[in-house]
Amino acid sequence: MESVVRIFSGTSSEYLAKEIAQSYGVGLGTLKVQRFADGEISPVILESVRGDYVFFIQSTFAPAENILELLLLIDSARRASAAYITAVIPYFGYARQDRKDKPRVAIAAKLMANLLVAAGANRIMTMDLHAPQIQGFFDIPVDHLESNTIFIPYLSSLPNLDNIIFASPDVGSTNRARHLAQYFGREMVICDKHRKRANEIASMTVIGEVAGKDVILVDDIIDTASTLCNAAKLLIDKGANSVRALCTHPVLSGTAIEKIEASHLSEIVVCNTIPLKRNSEKIRVLSVGELFAQSIRNMYEHKSISSLFIN
Ligand code: R5P
Repeated sequence: MESVVRIFSGTSSEYLAKEIAQSYGVGLGTLKVQRFADGEISPVILESVRGDYVFFIQSTFAPAENILELLLLIDSARRASAAYITAVIPYFGYARQDRKDKPRVAIAAKLMANLLVAAGANRIMTMDLHAPQIQGFFDIPVDHLESNTIFIPYLSSLPNLDNIIFASPDVGSTNRARHLAQYFGREMVICDKHRKRANEIASMTVIGEVAGKDVILVDDIIDTASTLCNAAKLLIDKGANSVRALCTHPVLSGTAIEKIEASHLSEIVVCNTIPLKRNSEKIRVLSVGELFAQSIRNMYEHKSISSLFIN
């Protein structure tokens, strides 16, 4: 008998899972996430998955219940004899802790990878990992989707692209900015960010000329929004005409949205890999639903996933 595709949603990503399932052309699989009186999570899959291709959609932003729930779901499917389990993690949390850069710290991204594999995941599908080499933390295949597939058509639809220049808000995002600069045949500049500690910026300087330009900052994560708001101020101080930002994952902790609203940024374009805490006139959300649905289809039909990328 042929294995069928079953798409399930974890609690954190229901809005997106519905869109992915609809775009794929199937209903969402049924499951229930129960809790013990003390809060322990106890998910149960309410339909047979024996011999099937199972996809769990769950971004693993905080709280850690999200990753835990995903692990338990994978374990349930494995014990229920699913043929092939893919953890679809549009935003892979804990990715910023990806190396031992000082004594006595954890490499959380590697630990999360170990946990997912130990739970029984056969494959990971994700988007814009904080560092692409995190793929190597998994000894199973990783389909690493690119937000450029979403951002490039959006940028192409904007009027007056002649004056744009791309900017990386820190050294880590240089490749992201370069990719877009090359695609559109534009220049790029780099902001050199130095951190005192996580989420706190000590200094920032810009390398390159931005006077009179419409700058597009490119980053993977917006958390406290300090990086993008400081970069926008710096670029405006250096004579930029306008500054907008493309940023894949809207973590947006604390007062980040208020900071964006009060900043020099004219617009921030994000993907719906994480649900937005509240709407803001300055934040435009683009959906990754169709891209994930198409990637699931290509994976299931043994077709190329890189054919979906825009280079
Ligand atoms: C850092 O390396 C990331 O690419 C982002 O720039 C960072 O996580 C953004 O954090 P925040 O919004 O708190 O400045």
